Amino acid sequence: MAGTPPETRLSDPIRIGGVELPNRLYRAPLLECAGNGPDAVETFLRELEPAAESGVGLIFQGASIVTAEGGCAAPNMTRLHDPAFVDGLSALTDRIHDHGSRIFVQLAHGGLRSMSMWHSEYRERHPDAVQQAVSRPPLQLRLADRAGFVDLRPHVMSTAEVYELAEAFGRAAGYATDAGYDGIHLSGANMGIIQQFLSPYYNDRDDEFADGVQFLLAVRDAVREQAGNVPLVTKVPVESPSPPFVRTHLTREESVEIARRLASAGYDALVPVEVSVYWDMSVIRGKFPARAWAAASLQEGYATAFGGPWRARTVKWLNRLESRWYDREPGWNADFCRAVREVVDVPVLCEGGLRERAHCDRLLGESCDLVGMGRPFYAEPRLGARLLDGDERALCESCNNCTVPQATGEPGRCRTPAIVRQRARLEKDGVYERPHRTESGDH
Ligand SMILES: Cc1cc2nc3c(=O)[nH]c(=O)nc-3n(C[C@H](O)[C@H](O)[C@H](O)COP(=O)(O)O)c2cc1C
Repeated sequence: MAGTPPETRLSDPIRIGGVELPNRLYRAPLLECAGNGPDAVETFLRELEPAAESGVGLIFQGASIVTAEGGCAAPNMTRLHDPAFVDGLSALTDRIHDHGSRIFVQLAHGGLRSMSMWHSEYRERHPDAVQQAVSRPPLQLRLADRAGFVDLRPHVMSTAEVYELAEAFGRAAGYATDAGYDGIHLSGANMGIIQQFLSPYYNDRDDEFADGVQFLLAVRDAVREQAGNVPLVTKVPVESPSPPFVRTHLTREESVEIARRLASAGYDALVPVEVSVYWDMSVIRGKFPARAWAAASLQEGYATAFGGPWRARTVKWLNRLESRWYDREPGWNADFCRAVREVVDVPVLCEGGLRERAHCDRLLGESCDLVGMGRPFYAEPRLGARLLDGDERALCESCNNCTVPQATGEPGRCRTPAIVRQRARLEKDGVYERPHRTESGDH
């Protein structure tokens, strides 16, 4: 953001829209798999409160689905279509505020990337499920469908249905704001419906939504109508890391222009991310999760999710290939963030492989205005205390053993014993303790 002094540090406050954050560290959105059952609030508290207690300024609750049916990309995602349910989440937002932190919820819809496309057992239980599609799916996905790797049942949305979907985002934002959420984050990447609108790989429409930014503008209008001036943030994808056989994708130039348009259209902050056109390891770069794939207790779950042992083995093989393919440079989104920051005057948020406090401070001076971490919070739920109070490095080694088990409905947690042991030692030494903070964030 123009004018940010180079000596900006992690512990400095910042505003997003009208909301003041006590510092520039955020917990990136991670699926909590909290569902919509009676334990949902408890699950969210277990997942998110430790980060707030440890001083993290902004917590992004993971993707929640805006519609009553379909659109879930993974098992046990939470839906925010029901005002009575969302109202109950005020117990969560109150508790986060008690620690002086802020909480934004991420709103999402999977579109083509819904469970009915990839999850075998889900398909059996929902034989009539279709996937909301921006356009006819691209050739490579149709071939994968014919080969039996995925099950495409696209329903290409009419113009009226696209507006209805934007309204569903607005309604969920309204309920969330009533429940005390401080802001709305949109799941603009990870092959969700927003990326599908933005991407020329998926969007071949001939109505006003041929320009995918129009969908984000329709969502903005619906959010403003239902939730007033609540801060509105979105991930902005660039698809340059896509596999070589994908010829049409968002280029850096196109994505920077999308970011510029969104900022000037009233989006309050942007999270630029380099992702593939697919839902793959471009989002969570790191090692091949050998331990997670080998776990005896998960084999049945993998077979159930992926449609039998040999398909599970194919997914495992693809997972291995991707872990080698994607560049794992810590802070891999920083260059793209810098390019976006040059053309917008709203805060730019950087996440992806960041692990060291000193690195975060350097990026804050040059590439972004806030820094976020995702997987490190699985390894150390109270990581904020170590990062904010000292020149520390997160324990997470991006081994990804936390990621694959989620396909079976398992909760996200660090599953690497050496790291879990290190955290236990640090806990014993009291390094995660912080003085109590007040509502205003004072220590
Ligand atoms: C298990 C898991 C779930 C995730 N869920 C979401 C999500 O709901 N929404 C989203 O935008 N990103 C999601 N991400 C991506 C993270 O927000 C983050 O960009 C990514 O993990 C890279 O940051 P890290 O290296 O600090 O983990 C998820 C990542 C992981 C590992």
